[in-house]
Amino acid sequence: MKKILIEGGNRLFGEVHISGAKNSVLPLIAATLLTDGVSIIDDCPYLSDVRTMCLVLEHLGAKTHFDNGELILDTSNLDAVEPPGELVRKMRASFLIMGPLLARTGKAQMSLPGGCAIGARPIDLHLKGFEALGAEINIGHGFIETHADKLKGARIYLDFPSVGATENIMMAASLAEGTTIIDNAAHEPEIIDLANMLGVMGANIKGAGTNTIRIEGVSSLKPARHTVIPDRIEAGSFLCMAAATGGELILNNVLPEHLQPLTAKLSEIGATIETGFDSIHILGPEEISPVDIKTLPYPGFPTDMQAQMMALLTVCKGTSIVTETVFENRFMHAAELRKMGADIRIKGSSSVINGVSHLEAASVESTDLRAGAAMVIAAQMAKGISEISGLHHIERGYEGFVEKLEKIGTRIWIADI
Ligand code: UD1
Repeated sequence: MKKILIEGGNRLFGEVHISGAKNSVLPLIAATLLTDGVSIIDDCPYLSDVRTMCLVLEHLGAKTHFDNGELILDTSNLDAVEPPGELVRKMRASFLIMGPLLARTGKAQMSLPGGCAIGARPIDLHLKGFEALGAEINIGHGFIETHADKLKGARIYLDFPSVGATENIMMAASLAEGTTIIDNAAHEPEIIDLANMLGVMGANIKGAGTNTIRIEGVSSLKPARHTVIPDRIEAGSFLCMAAATGGELILNNVLPEHLQPLTAKLSEIGATIETGFDSIHILGPEEISPVDIKTLPYPGFPTDMQAQMMALLTVCKGTSIVTETVFENRFMHAAELRKMGADIRIKGSSSVINGVSHLEAASVESTDLRAGAAMVIAAQMAKGISEISGLHHIERGYEGFVEKLEKIGTRIWIADI
């Protein structure tokens, strides 16, 4: 099994180029199913999740080609409406093909999606949206089938501002007849990125990035060329690494306003942060001050940065409280951090972290994608060489991770152990 070995105790210095956003590019790839022709996504990160999504599209009849950051997708000929279950179960975001397929072909069916084991993660809000648009839904054992002669615009209230449900409904409604209004829609930057690409395709969407999104359906959409936004979670993970090691990094290709919920907290722990137009300079603190964190939908603190922030706070001077409100089972990394000597107690949706003087190297597991990044942060703060298993989780969401870390001074190796 492949493991990451990291020797801690090094300050990180240098520049990091941030890749295109995983969470943006997956819905963008799904959106190309709405069109009949060749679309291009620029700045596409080369990630295993992107490859999985491309394979899903290829099984539906599309052709995909990746070349040096340019992803070319030819969705002219679709000859299937059901991707193989083993691909769908690999990744929850595969469910994002449901809305576009339904809108384009009038039918879609698939196994229930998989993804990181961070809670129940139901899809009821996606289905509520499709039903409101006039689709009929049949659910069997681990299987969903939807069909509709013609989708019709509707007013849809999301009980929670789900990112995926907002995206799926936005895509389906783009080709529906009439007006769709999504109330309590998600605000994440990835929603705006998707709305922008759909706009280039000819969709009529207003209000993306606010509570209420209004979509006037159009009869057809054309292929588009679009550059994906920078990955705010990859950037955030590197900011935490600089803070954890008392290092100094410049991150290029970032949109600093997307990182504001995190940079505000990093300033509170004592880091010095300066933002440029598309760059961030961070100088880590000599000593980490405690902070309390509560994850919330954007523009609140991102749940996808909770594990990395917890790793950083294990050595703060005092007590921090981290509360998770987006997912109900997202503290699995706490047990791994404890193996390194962290003092973390979980009470329901909150965790109490009493800072310790230092962490000790240990053999730990990446329990999910962002927990993997948290282990890498903790290992860099620990004394000795840590072994981190679950490299495949990290490869789902961090492009060229090992190379980028080596370049800024991390003592890191991949070993078959
Ligand atoms: C997306 C991100 C993921 C991030 C999450 C929250 C992608 C590919 N993934 O996931 O990295 O952690 O947003 O920012 O963009 N829920 C329901 N019913 C539904 C849908 C969601 O109850 O139909 C619940 C979920 O169980 C969860 C919460 O809503 O508790 C948020 O989920 P959602 O925003 O949908 O996350 P994803 O789109 O899956």
